[in-house]
Amino acid sequence: MSEALESYSEIGRVAIDPKGMSGPRKLYVKSFGCQMNVYDSHRMADTLAPEGFVETGAPEEADLVILNTCHIREKAAEKVYSELGRIRKLKEEAAREGRKVLVAVAGCVAQAEGQEILRRAPAVDLVVGPQNYHRLPGLLARATREPVVDTEFPVEDKFDFLKSPSREKTRARGVSAFVTVQEGCDKFCTFCVVPYTRGAEVSRPVTKIVAEVQRLADAGVREVTLIGQNVNAYHGEGPDGRPWTLGRLLHHVAEVEGIARLRYTTSHPRDMDESLIAAHRDLACLMPYLHLPLQSGSDRILAAMNRRHTRADYLRLIERMRAARADLALSSDFIVGFPCETEDDFRDTLDVVEEVGYAGAFSFKYSPRPGTPAANMEQVPEEVKGERLQRLQAAIDRHQVAFNAACQGKIFDVLFEKPGKYQGQLVGRSPYLQPVQAMAPPALIGEVVPVKVTEISANSLFGTLVAQTSSIHASANYDAMPASAVAGA
Ligand code: 5AD
Ligand code: SF4
Repeated sequence: MSEALESYSEIGRVAIDPKGMSGPRKLYVKSFGCQMNVYDSHRMADTLAPEGFVETGAPEEADLVILNTCHIREKAAEKVYSELGRIRKLKEEAAREGRKVLVAVAGCVAQAEGQEILRRAPAVDLVVGPQNYHRLPGLLARATREPVVDTEFPVEDKFDFLKSPSREKTRARGVSAFVTVQEGCDKFCTFCVVPYTRGAEVSRPVTKIVAEVQRLADAGVREVTLIGQNVNAYHGEGPDGRPWTLGRLLHHVAEVEGIARLRYTTSHPRDMDESLIAAHRDLACLMPYLHLPLQSGSDRILAAMNRRHTRADYLRLIERMRAARADLALSSDFIVGFPCETEDDFRDTLDVVEEVGYAGAFSFKYSPRPGTPAANMEQVPEEVKGERLQRLQAAIDRHQVAFNAACQGKIFDVLFEKPGKYQGQLVGRSPYLQPVQAMAPPALIGEVVPVKVTEISANSLFGTLVAQTSSIHASANYDAMPASAVAGA
């Protein structure tokens, strides 16, 4: 550990808890936006645990509130300010009781707006960008005395300093976990803030990722989703000192004992290389569900978005993916009402939705983001965007319903995650991330089990265990069968 960082941590321990107050200090973290923020929120809590902070789900009892924010669309960013209004009231109430509450804004709004947040929301004590979470203890110590903003891109690698959770904490977070393998983006799509808020693309070394996955597996995690804003641009250093592709990394991570399932997200069509397609062909544990954002079905709009591929490139790629893995299902992100989008452009998007038959997809109205090139292009009227969004969502929903309906009677491997709504029931996920409810003993939490789908509702599948429930009860070590998106790409 560098000297500077060590002393940050020491300052933190002394000054955040100056009177050695009785009992642990309570931390409330709220995540907005994508899975990357969920992962970061965990790592922030882990880094503050040695400083005596214990997580709470109740903001009113917190000594420290962290809002981990999202800047991808205007609505997401504005949500933070309304949340800060509520937090300010809690802070004032606590002050009346003689309790000091620290408020920190982290994430992409922090990175993008920095000082401006302190101006708009004076209740905020600390603004910290995503690259500086390892400095939290020291920053918080300073923030007890004066407002602090830290949005620089440091030279040190935060992953070398962020703390790992205890085994118990890892287990409590569930049997499915995210692992960040890559951050930032160099693609500069004209609508997107990610290259500005998350910075240039950086990949973590293979050995560090494998060590993290091993630690998760040792604590009982069975499914790992490798995440990054442009995850398939991964090019981290391998054990041989050379850059490895995501496909190669997946092969390596698949060998970690205890890991039954792998996923990765979010990918850019340009970065689906041979090794990744081969991983889908060769790795049974790599789930056959791929989130591959297209954004628009119109070549004209794709060019204006700087996506650097055509609709035909994308469709050809999907053909190759399906040839490698016949049971592959797809999801995507779409933007409607990108500047200059005509009705014909929009119809091209609808056409692709029909042609690909997505199992699900996210769709958004274009939201101009300050500092991005598209914000200065000719805008589409709000009501046109709204009307297109409705039509697109109806088409996506139709395909999703059809995809789910086709699951009736199928036998899926389900990774059971937790107790279901009703007594005796567990809920898990199908390979396609659909929630699956089934009557099953609690011992099956963390196991991958074949389930026959018997019923389908709007949001869930219902099924029965294919193996005899009684024999599962009898055997404690039931043999496991071999076997949601990051803002970005
Ligand atoms: N407006 C609307 N949607 C956006 N996205 C990214 N930037 C914008 C924007 N300015 C969407 C893209 C991306 C997803 C995470 O969010 O579809 O894939
Ligand atoms: Fe990068 Fe994805 Fe944003 Fe494009 S949309 S700039 S690929 S993060």
